[in-house]
Amino acid sequence: MEDLSLHILDIVENSMDAGATKVEIRIKEDKGADRLTLEVKDNGYGMDKDILKRASDCFFTAKPGKRFGFGIPFLMQAARECDGNFSINSAPNRGTSISASFKRSHIDIKPLGDMGSTMTVLICGHPEIDYLLLYEKNGFSYCLDTEKLKADLGGVPINTPGVLRLIKEDVNEALGTLAKQLG
Ligand SMILES: Nc1ncnc2c1ncn2[C@@H]1O[C@H](COP(=O)(O)OP(=O)(O)OP(=O)(O)O)[C@@H](O)[C@H]1O
Ligand SMILES: [Mg+2]
Repeated sequence: MEDLSLHILDIVENSMDAGATKVEIRIKEDKGADRLTLEVKDNGYGMDKDILKRASDCFFTAKPGKRFGFGIPFLMQAARECDGNFSINSAPNRGTSISASFKRSHIDIKPLGDMGSTMTVLICGHPEIDYLLLYEKNGFSYCLDTEKLKADLGGVPINTPGVLRLIKEDVNEALGTLAKQLG
C-alpha cells in the first residue's frame, strides 16, 4: 500500500463491516517526539477474545468466502517497519480501537496521502455513519465532524457531489497547510 490514507480506508471499512454508526480517525504528528500516530475508534460490535487474538494474522478473516484478511496485518507491518507500535483494543459490544505509531523520520515511512479522497470515499459509501477526523500537529489541529456538518447542511444530503467535493478540498487544503507550515 502506497500511503497511510489507504491503510486508514481499510481499517475504517472494518468498522463499517462491524456495524459502526460512529467512527473517529485521529492522526497525530509530534515533531519533537518524532512520532506519527494513527487511531481508528468505532462503536461497532467489537471482537471476542478469540477473534482479537487472530485479527492480525493474514490467514484469518471473518468474511465469508475469503481466505485472507489483509487490512490489520498490513498496517501492523507498516508500523513495525518504521520503529512503531501497533495495538488493538476491542470487546464484544464495546467497539474497537486500533492504534498504529511510526517514527516520523524513518526512511520507510509512507506519506499520509490523499486524506480528502479517503474521507469522501467513506462518506459516499456510508453517509449515515458519523465520522470524526481529527488531525493534530504540534499543537495545531483540524477537525471534520460530519455529524455537525450534516446539521449545518440543513437537509442537503452530505453525499451530494458538490458537498463531497468541498469536503475533499477542505481536508486536503487544511492538512496540506499544516504540513507546510509546521514541517
Ligand atoms: N473494527 C472491527 N470491529 C470488529 N471486528 C473487526 C474490526 N476490525 C477487524 N475485525 C475483525 O478482524 C478480521 C481481520 O480484519 P482485516 O482487516 O485484517 O481483514 P478482513 O477485513 O477480514 O479482510 P480485508 O481487509 O483483506 O478485506 C475481520 O475479518 C474481523 O473479523
Ligand atoms: Mg479489513
